[in-house]
Amino acid sequence: MRQLTEAQKKRIEEILSRMTLEEKIGQMNQESPSIVGGFDVPFSELIEMLTDGRLSKEEFGKIMSTSQQDYHEDDIRAGRVGSLMVQDPAKVNELQKIAVEESRLGIPLIFGLDVIHGFKTVFPIAIAEAGTFDPDLMRKTARMAARESKAAGVSWHFAPMLDIARDARWGRVSEGPGEDPCLASAFATAKVTGLQEGESPDDPYVAACLKHYIGYGACESGRDYNTVNMAMHVFYNHYLKPFKAAVDTGAQTVMAAFNDLNGIPCTVNKFLLRDILKEKLGLPGFVVSDANAIRECINHGIAADDFDAGVQAALAGMDMDMGTGIYKNQLQKAVEEGKVPMEVIDEAARRILSVKMWLGLFDHPYVDEASMHQYDVLPQEHLDLALEAAERSIVLLKNEGDILPLAPSAKISVIGSLADQPEEVVGAWALSWRKEDCVSLWSGIQKEFANAKYFPCGGPEGGLNEEEITEAAAYGDVIVAVLGETIAMSGEASSRADITLPGKQRQILEKLLESGKPVVLVLMNGRPLALEWEDAHVPAIVEAWHLGIRMGDAVARVLCGKKNPEGRLSSSFPAMTGQCPVYYNHPNTGRPASKSKFTSRYLDAPLDSLYPFGYGLSYTSFDFSNLNVRDQGDVLMIGVEVKNTGERAGTTTAQLYTQDVAASLVRPVKELKRFAKVTLEAGEIMRVYFELPKNELGFFDNEGNYRLEEGLFRIYVGQNSRECLMAEIWEK
Ligand code: BGC
Repeated sequence: MRQLTEAQKKRIEEILSRMTLEEKIGQMNQESPSIVGGFDVPFSELIEMLTDGRLSKEEFGKIMSTSQQDYHEDDIRAGRVGSLMVQDPAKVNELQKIAVEESRLGIPLIFGLDVIHGFKTVFPIAIAEAGTFDPDLMRKTARMAARESKAAGVSWHFAPMLDIARDARWGRVSEGPGEDPCLASAFATAKVTGLQEGESPDDPYVAACLKHYIGYGACESGRDYNTVNMAMHVFYNHYLKPFKAAVDTGAQTVMAAFNDLNGIPCTVNKFLLRDILKEKLGLPGFVVSDANAIRECINHGIAADDFDAGVQAALAGMDMDMGTGIYKNQLQKAVEEGKVPMEVIDEAARRILSVKMWLGLFDHPYVDEASMHQYDVLPQEHLDLALEAAERSIVLLKNEGDILPLAPSAKISVIGSLADQPEEVVGAWALSWRKEDCVSLWSGIQKEFANAKYFPCGGPEGGLNEEEITEAAAYGDVIVAVLGETIAMSGEASSRADITLPGKQRQILEKLLESGKPVVLVLMNGRPLALEWEDAHVPAIVEAWHLGIRMGDAVARVLCGKKNPEGRLSSSFPAMTGQCPVYYNHPNTGRPASKSKFTSRYLDAPLDSLYPFGYGLSYTSFDFSNLNVRDQGDVLMIGVEVKNTGERAGTTTAQLYTQDVAASLVRPVKELKRFAKVTLEAGEIMRVYFELPKNELGFFDNEGNYRLEEGLFRIYVGQNSRECLMAEIWEK
């Protein structure tokens, strides 16, 4: 991956040597456009009023349309801003011109934005895309997002989100690659490569910002922003792994998480930021705080006031302040009083300048405003990739009696308010899409099925319309029920204490099933749901997540069989909420769950998840046999025979897991080590091989030392984390 040249490094030092303290601190300050005028209360209160219902969406919209934005032009001119969140190319150029032409040293701004799963072309949310188990696809979608955002002048993505998440109550499970460190690391590498590396010398690239460092996904009881307590071996082996993979790939920047880790907020955590991230992993660029997080250290009860919070953050290695203005207002005094050494400021400024240099912003600060027009109508290649990613992310959870695929001539009742809302396909954290590009399920279904009819019946937010349910049950030979969550029910600040289908959607299903007609449940949601009841009663279930702009087409093509589903779950689905957190790679206990009472189990819940990590069905079936492990010295060569035993071509994902049977620390019952997608014609057989270096059988201890211990290991290969063949080896 692209590195700074010696000449560029020299140029950075030369600029640094001419900067005043105030200008260096200015680089450490990131601003968002703030809303001014038009109302009498502070903007933050306005948002609260909207959230708690004192203000309706309409009233809020009216106020916003008459308000003005402050882009901090005077501060930019004075060299007091290093970065801004803007995505309009004309605005980018206007502000950049002030920085480059009117500030004393002409240092360009870096424009950053949340481009989590696509920019104009919105792809599936990360939890869904990770389930493709296809790193090259993940790379391609990131590549396309980088090209599109760069055309708008946005060269810094607050992505990929790499939080391992095992508690589906947490709303932000939607934004990340799921519960497994190995899959998350593959995702991390693919995303960083896609964002930061062009396919040709003039292919645009952007800087990645890995987030949220670290442990955010382990927030207690899945409640957003909550405290995180974690054994250090879990930190090293699980949560740090994808961040390490991403930094090893060359990721330029990192965003610290809101939460505390074992008592110290990540924002001011020197061990995390300096010792691990910068020194051990070798992050080349800089660390930015999460929004408002430096000030939140006062709420954490770890800082007395703004000044104290700013000092602690700077000393810990936090290079850029997102949005509080604390660095801008407090750091100069902190340096003058000797609380923050000048080297700390120099280091932060150097790191920020180095990313700007790495991006080429010193030589090419402006964006060609016309270049965004190439996306006024999305190019076919973009639409095709959006369709491919969406189709391949769909997970078939159940298909009793082979109800699916449906004949194109079938008389279908499509129900559920989500089915006809194009804006509901994009998922949480999509900021730059256009409604006209979004294909709702209802519009996708109409393209593939001639005899489909739509009956809203109700949805996640509303009640249920008895009359429409009766009509729907009467019309269709089969009912496609599109139910789930609105996009506002997952993402940030969207934890749920009950992750069953929200609202009256289960009653809708009950009534539809009473009709005796076959029901296909298509789920739109941003997290694993607790589907025990649905699994017991509904014959076919399709997990369709929030799949991006081509969602409707993708789902319709799966329903009619043009696309054979191949997606897998990147997160286990609990049977019921009370099982959360539930994840396949949990540690051994002294009393593994079994039917016997005195084991690690609930009296009133199944022993295991409902659908395990790695699970997903196909319209064909596969058989795995003849697992064989060959010792080749430093590596194990693991082979397995995969046969397509059904009647049509299909794709499965062969998954290799290991288990350290006796170690000096309690280890997971199984850990994913490798995976491979296998596409076979009906009846075709293929032998699949995995090469596993023996040193990958080790683990980190609580001090962060990597240990390779002798003893018995189990090797598992299967189609998901539960159903596997097993072999044993003895390693010395
Ligand atoms: C989120 C981050 C995001 C940032 C900037 C925060 O609220 O936690 O994920 O990047 O806002 O929009």
